[in-house]
Formats: sequence, structure tokens, C-alpha cells
Amino acid sequence: MVQDRTPRPDALEPVERASTDELRALQLQRLRATVRRTYDHVRHYRGAFDAAGVHPDDITELADIATLPFTTKSDLRENYPFGMFAVPREEVSRVHASSGTTGKATVVGYTAGDITTWAHLMARSLRAGGVRPGDRVHVAYGYGLFTGGLGAHYGAEALGCTVIPVSGGMTERQVTLIRDFEPDAILVTPSYMLAIIDELERQGVDPASTSLRVGVFGAEPWTNDMRAEMERRLDLHAVDIYGLSEVMGPGVAMECVETKDGLHVWEDHFYPEIIDPITGEVLPDGQQGELVLTSLTKEAMPVIRYRTRDLTRLLPGTARNVRRIEKITGRTDDMIILRGVNLFPTQIEELILQVPALSPHFQCVLHREEGPMDEMTVRVERRMDATDDDAEAASTGLRTLIKNIIGVSVAVRVLEPEGVERSAGKMRRVIDQRPAR
Ligand code: DLL
Repeated sequence: MVQDRTPRPDALEPVERASTDELRALQLQRLRATVRRTYDHVRHYRGAFDAAGVHPDDITELADIATLPFTTKSDLRENYPFGMFAVPREEVSRVHASSGTTGKATVVGYTAGDITTWAHLMARSLRAGGVRPGDRVHVAYGYGLFTGGLGAHYGAEALGCTVIPVSGGMTERQVTLIRDFEPDAILVTPSYMLAIIDELERQGVDPASTSLRVGVFGAEPWTNDMRAEMERRLDLHAVDIYGLSEVMGPGVAMECVETKDGLHVWEDHFYPEIIDPITGEVLPDGQQGELVLTSLTKEAMPVIRYRTRDLTRLLPGTARNVRRIEKITGRTDDMIILRGVNLFPTQIEELILQVPALSPHFQCVLHREEGPMDEMTVRVERRMDATDDDAEAASTGLRTLIKNIIGVSVAVRVLEPEGVERSAGKMRRVIDQRPAR
């Protein structure tokens, strides 16, 4: 039986209950200070603001943010490694960096004050997700330059939990530690959680029988169908956590356990906007587009209108007053354009989970056979208990679903269990084997 894990109302911070007017006033005050600080201390921002003809004094209301230029990943790359810092390097107490598979890594920095704020926001996020002081928390996000492990670690400590800093990988050992240390919560990417579930089963443990009550899953897109799968197999609350290193790390937005209806953005520290990714125009709340975030309290590396490339929409608050983002559909870079049809791996995930014989271990491979047309093959594993006949039918079933719902013909290859490569962190869903044009 899943436990009620709603935090007690008196556990919330006053700002989590602030009115929209109070919040907007706080945001404006913090935005003005951030814009001023970046203009005075970061050469990149001074140049970009001057080029756009805007000055910090011009920001008199929140809507004025739209006059400020965007910041992109390439701005960070061009100022590699420390050029975006707004404080002297000696005041930076930690750096993190993205993996930088394409080109240079992007580096981010934190003052001691930033680390405290981050820990505080992660603690707030974990509490919203149903984690409680005193809980044992198994952290399987990677430790290192990636923000997942250390971000989760400091947050769980700040909440008053017993932290088990496992990091990613060594799946057998993950299972041993879950069995022996009996954690209440696990913090891990959803794709790696699936690998841990398989390992539990391989060791003859019913995944629903573990001590886990809450799973805090993020760092990659996952769907509500995947939530249902996780909750069914693990008998826990599966909640979504969002963040990105450029803006802080995990804990920018978090789903509340009592509603599980999208992620509340901690608007006292971040100002969210949705823009049209092509024109850059700001879209009204409710419309789908690219999420743009401005940090409101960061000291070492504030970011102004950072283009996340993540697609979602802004919705009114429910369990908290701050606005929510809908579960992320995908990144603009992960959008597959197949013979004129745009699609995201999350759409494939939703359909796979409608076919009982298929497991959610999958990848989309893009290739080109004869002729100019691109092809896509969905490589997906059958479930452990599915027969060859089931797999055959599932392949046809998935192909038909994709054709009918997304409107594009693809090939489906159903593989044996373990046929799709496992990842101990973020899973690569799209493999592009097309020759360069
Ligand atoms: O992935 C931070 C993080 C760690 C978030 C642990 C949650 C949990 P980066 O490596 O900089 O930081 O990658 C950020 O990952 O722009 C999204 O594309 C994606 N992402 C992060 N969280 C989610 C999520 C961390 N909940 C990039 N849903 C972001 C969908 C997510 N995508």
C-alpha cells in the first residue's frame, strides 16, 4: 500500500504560501538586482545589453524582462571556462560542468551562498516530493561534475535525511544496498531505475516489496505512462524533478506528491518564460514552447533569460501558488523530423507502454537505406514474461499505433531482455546513423 506522503502544511516555508502579488514584488526586486549585478560584473552581459540598447535602470516591471537579450549555451562556451562568473574566482567555492559531448563543456560556478541556496531548494523539492526528515535516501545520480549527485546529496542532508551516496553504476551493488540499508527514498534517473528494477527481479526480489516509498526521478524526459509503470512495479510515489546545471542543477522545479500534476517552479529564485523557439516571441501561459529561465538569487553565475531548449508550457499553481511547468516533452535538439513529421522519444515511450508485451527499454535509431528518405527503427525489448508470439504481435501492434497516432511509418525491432544498452545516468534515446548530407 502506498503511504500518504503529503507534507504537513506547517512544514512549508512561508514563501511557498505567498500570494501571487507578494511573489511578483519579490521577483521584480530580485530581477533588478540580478540584472544590475550581471551588467556591472560580467563582460558578456554588459556587451549584450549594450548591443540590445537596454540598461539595468530600464527594468521597472517584470514584463520588461522581454527587452533583455537571451543567453544560450554557446555564450557559455565562448566564455569557457570562467568568463561568465560575476564574482572573483576566489569566491567560487565549487564548479560543475556539463559532459560536453559536442564541443567544449559548459562550466558553472557557485559561491558558498549559492551552495546553501541550492541545498535549501533541493530540500524544499524533496519535501514537496514526499521525502521526510529522518528518511534514508539512496542517491543514485552520478557524483562528480554532473550536478545530480552532489545536488541531491546536499539537499537530502539539509532536509535532515540519512544520505546514502551510492552514485550511478554497479547495478548489482545498488540492489544489495537497497536490500540491506532499506532506504525510504531513491533519487535516480528514470531509465536507470528501470535497470535497477530488472536487477531486483533477476535477484529474485519483488520490486514492490522493497522499503522504497518515494522515487525522485529526473534529469531526462519521462512520461505519465512511465510513472504508472514505476508506481505499479515498485509500489511507491514516483515524482518528477527538473533542473539544469546552467541555472543551478536539480531543484529548479519539482512535482508535489499530493497532486503529481507537473512541476512547481520555485519562482522566488527563478523567473520562467515560454517563448516560440523560432521567433523568440514570449508566449502566454498555457502555450507550448521553449522554457527560458532567469536566475533571481544566484551570486557566482547568474543567468539572464537562459534558453533551456526544453519544451513545455506554464500552468497555474495547484499544490503551491507558484506556477507549474508541464512534464517536459523533450529538448528541441531531440526532436526527430521524419519525412516531415515532428516527433519526440516521449511520444514513442507512451505508445510502447500501451503494448503489454513490451518493456520501456527502447531507443530510436535514425538511418537512411536506399534513396533520400530517412527511416526510423524503434528498438525495444520484450518483457521478461512475453513469448516469441507475443513479441511478434507487439511489433505489429506498436508499428500500427505509431502510424495511427503519430502519423508516420517506422520499423519496430523487438529485442530480447537486455538487448538495449543500459545507461547508469541519462539514457540516449536517439541514435542518428544517417550519413552527413
Ligand atoms: O540533469 C540536473 C538534474 C539532475 C535534474 C538530477 C534532475 C535530477 P544537466 O545535466 O545540465 O542537469 O541537464 C539538464 O536535462 O535541460 C533537460 O533537457 C533535462 N532534464 C533535467 N530534468 C528533467 C526532467 C541535470 N525532470 C537537462 N524532465 C535539461 C525532462 C529533464 N528533462
